Amino acid sequence: MTATQWLELPSRLDRSRLPMPDTTADFLQVCQLANLITSLFWGHNDFYESPENRLAAARPRPDLRTDYVVAREDDDEDDPGRIVGFGFLAATPATATAEVWVGVHPGFRRRGVGAALLAGIEAEALRRGHTALQSWTDNVLVDPDDAGPPAVRSGAPDAAFAAAHGYDLAQLEWCSVLALREAAGRARQVASACTLGEDYELVGWEGACPGEYAESMAGLLGRMPAEAPRGGLEIVPEAWDVDRLRVEERAREQIHLTLVTTAVLHRPSGRLVGHSDVETFRDLPQVAYQGSTLVHPDHRGRHLALLLKAANVSRLVRSRPATERLYAWTARENEAILRANETLGFRPVSAHPGWQKRTGGSGRPGPGGSIW
Ligand SMILES: CC(C)(COP(=O)(O)OP(=O)(O)OC[C@H]1O[C@@H](n2cnc3c(N)ncnc32)[C@H](O)[C@@H]1OP(=O)(O)O)[C@@H](O)C(=O)NCCC(=O)NCCS
Repeated sequence: MTATQWLELPSRLDRSRLPMPDTTADFLQVCQLANLITSLFWGHNDFYESPENRLAAARPRPDLRTDYVVAREDDDEDDPGRIVGFGFLAATPATATAEVWVGVHPGFRRRGVGAALLAGIEAEALRRGHTALQSWTDNVLVDPDDAGPPAVRSGAPDAAFAAAHGYDLAQLEWCSVLALREAAGRARQVASACTLGEDYELVGWEGACPGEYAESMAGLLGRMPAEAPRGGLEIVPEAWDVDRLRVEERAREQIHLTLVTTAVLHRPSGRLVGHSDVETFRDLPQVAYQGSTLVHPDHRGRHLALLLKAANVSRLVRSRPATERLYAWTARENEAILRANETLGFRPVSAHPGWQKRTGGSGRPGPGGSIW
């Protein structure tokens, strides 16, 4: 029999003391299961997440609360209480949207474990007033011989599960990957073929944004939710200022995430008018992930996005030679970015659907370590 329960997070990962504290042991089981599910989909470890990072990311912040729920198998005599499924609810308090996700060990699927986890998460989301539940899943790997665009395979477990629980396909992104060393030549060609003009200059940094650019950088970040194509996904507008920028930077430091940023400085105004971020993690030197890329609407049509991305490729190859691959997720309707990615040599590797369910009414009482 499986029972679901909200997880109490350990205050730290105490692995040196035996027996390990229950909170540490449980959290490590969740991390192992999460990495197992991801690596079985991909067939590699480019999306491995260390327990330290997962724990740091789950710590409550004023603007983000993350709660984990687990499903335990009680009938396993050798390992009573073994965690066979988990899920999370992550949201900014007092906003309509919330992110939900569940994953079940491959040996325990089609027994209602995922449904039980999701029911608890949804009830709690509803109780907190989140009425647009959103979830991103890994849907289908692209056959390298198939030149067609990725599409959602409705029979795959994530899509079938989402449909069975009333989630609609609200957005579809393509995940693509770039072999960085092979792309270095193309990035140089882009830099020499597209001229910036006298009004613009590329600037770049790693980690915290230099003080002189912080205010205009916060302005660009504030535009992102409304300007990135979100399909049918409900958007919550975000207020950004320098204080928030610094809070986010400190949160990234906690999970050993360093952003590599290239930005466009508009010389006449002295303001940044575009930027592209790449995420790099201390624990995963072989890969980097594309973060946001934005060019202010007044400065579009000048190949600035392509130049920003090409500059980041050159920078990664130069300053992080161990980084072999760069992953990017792009909405299927985001033609400018898809074209830039194609020019640099990104190739699609999987479909990444975004699901959404709208709910309403009042919910049941929520967590606090209870079992439903
Ligand atoms: C998606 C996932 C969580 C489902 O977990 P699960 O415990 O097997 O799901 P359940 O047994 O509760 O299934 C509930 C319903 O979802 C649908 N469903 C789930 N998996 C399915 C599959 N492989 N094929 C078809 N329908 C499926 C069915 O309608 C099922 O009801 P039924 O078994 O009575 O027909 C699991 O396959 C998984 O961990 N996948 C990888 C992670 C992931 O994609 N998560 C995305 C969800 S947010």
